[in-house]
Amino acid sequence: MADLGVEVAGIRFSNPIMPAAGPPVRTGEAMLRCAAGGAGGLVSKTISTSAASPPTPNIAEIPHGMVNTELWSELPPEQWIDHEYAIAQEAGLPLIVSLGYSADDIARLAPRIRPFADAVELSTHYIGEDATLMVAAIGAARAALDVPVFVKLSPLGREMVRAAQQAEGAGADGIVAINSFGPVLAIDPDTRQPYLGGTDGYGWLSGPALKPLALRCVRDIARTVNVPVIGVGGIGHGIDVVEMLMAGASAVQVCTAAILHGPGVFGKIARELDGWLDEHGYATATELRGLAVDGMSAAWSAGRPVVRPGPCNGCDLCAVSCPYDAITIDEKLAVIDYDACACCGLCVTRCRRGAIDWVAAGPAV
Ligand SMILES: Cc1cc2nc3c(=O)[nH]c(=O)nc-3n(C[C@H](O)[C@H](O)[C@H](O)COP(=O)(O)O)c2cc1C
Repeated sequence: MADLGVEVAGIRFSNPIMPAAGPPVRTGEAMLRCAAGGAGGLVSKTISTSAASPPTPNIAEIPHGMVNTELWSELPPEQWIDHEYAIAQEAGLPLIVSLGYSADDIARLAPRIRPFADAVELSTHYIGEDATLMVAAIGAARAALDVPVFVKLSPLGREMVRAAQQAEGAGADGIVAINSFGPVLAIDPDTRQPYLGGTDGYGWLSGPALKPLALRCVRDIARTVNVPVIGVGGIGHGIDVVEMLMAGASAVQVCTAAILHGPGVFGKIARELDGWLDEHGYATATELRGLAVDGMSAAWSAGRPVVRPGPCNGCDLCAVSCPYDAITIDEKLAVIDYDACACCGLCVTRCRRGAIDWVAAGPAV
């Protein structure tokens, strides 16, 4: 068994996997279910100064993800302060309270959630791209609280690294990246309507389709700021956590997979992470942090695909999809014609048997 424990801004989590703000943490009871399901910490659904009233329908599953047009909590803040946070605290896990949005909202909410929060997470989702609003919200949280203040960034047009730097400069203790991406559109061809309600049927994309964007943002941010980064977006398996930690995250959050598969997904992901660490000879999850943050080596970029005869069964998948017609199957073995091969690398990831490796260039002979 590997040690899955991580520390983020001085807070100790028994494992790096926690729910992201969203339906799986919509009440205190729901948060207890996430804890029972194996989460290493808790994040509560974003609250603001009044209850949200989102359009309906507001969540739809689509291939490779989900679109939603939920807003913040539909419960009034009083209910969270009088009931829900205390219930969530029964789990005995670190509790990150998610708050939105303006400095004025935060100034009003922060003193009231203070008894419950081990940290706060400020959502920037509805304050647009003007950094001064985010900076003011951080200031309001800092003035009212003596716990870590995390800032959750949305992948808007705004340059993420600059936003993270501005958050750090304003006193944020950590960055949570990323929120769902959008606006996006998903149409039901049978009804000829968008799956989501609202004036235009637009929503926000989450789930596996978001992961490459989240990884890129997390790595860019982790390279630049000195505060910890919590990675969010498309995580549903232990291997996703491995990638997110390697990109520089100190911990991760999960929303879509917890909606689709229930709160037991946190423990499942933790067990898969544990198995991967054991199999690859790592004693702790923290050892993975930042392993893929550095730039690519020239030898790696100058490498080429090489077929391993053992696992290759000549299935033809690589040959069919090679954009350069550089692969043929000869006696149940893929053979690469290096004169035709443009070293695009597709075959390495296309092979379902792990039979094609990318091999770094050796020293020139
Ligand atoms: C239905 C739904 C509701 C969400 N509500 C919130 C929210 O209240 N506050 C917030 O910061 N993020 C919210 N999110 C965004 C998630 O916390 C998360 O950042 C995003 O979905 C990417 O992670 P995932 O791919 O694991 O879902 C919501 C996402 C979904 C799908």
